[in-house]
Amino acid sequence: MNVQFVAAVEEIPEGQRKIVQVGKRSVGIFNIRGKYYALLNYCPHYGAELCKGLVSGTTMESHVYEFIYGKDQEIIRCPWHGWEFDIKTGCSLFDEQVKAKRFEVIVQDGQIGLILGAQSKRE
Ligand code: FES
Repeated sequence: MNVQFVAAVEEIPEGQRKIVQVGKRSVGIFNIRGKYYALLNYCPHYGAELCKGLVSGTTMESHVYEFIYGKDQEIIRCPWHGWEFDIKTGCSLFDEQVKAKRFEVIVQDGQIGLILGAQSKRE
């Protein structure tokens, strides 16, 4: 298991992100309600810096004329054309087959590490 430690937990408070360089890759680390998630800072559409996008929630499945907001802090919107991705899974909201690359994250002794070279599991 190749782990690259990239930040201390204090550097990324809840609701915040940090973009780090890991070799040639730029990676965004997100703290969502105390858990850390990592996405490659590269949008699968045309390659924008995805992790610099707006983080928000989205509308959930609901009945006609109903508006249910959910997944607060879990959705990132690409700054170029607005494609939206679930930060936890990397899946786009419009097609689960369209994904941003994500990395498994571990926290050890107050340090946030990325597990490199392993295929990430979806939640
Ligand atoms: S480059 Fe991200 S939506 Fe187009």
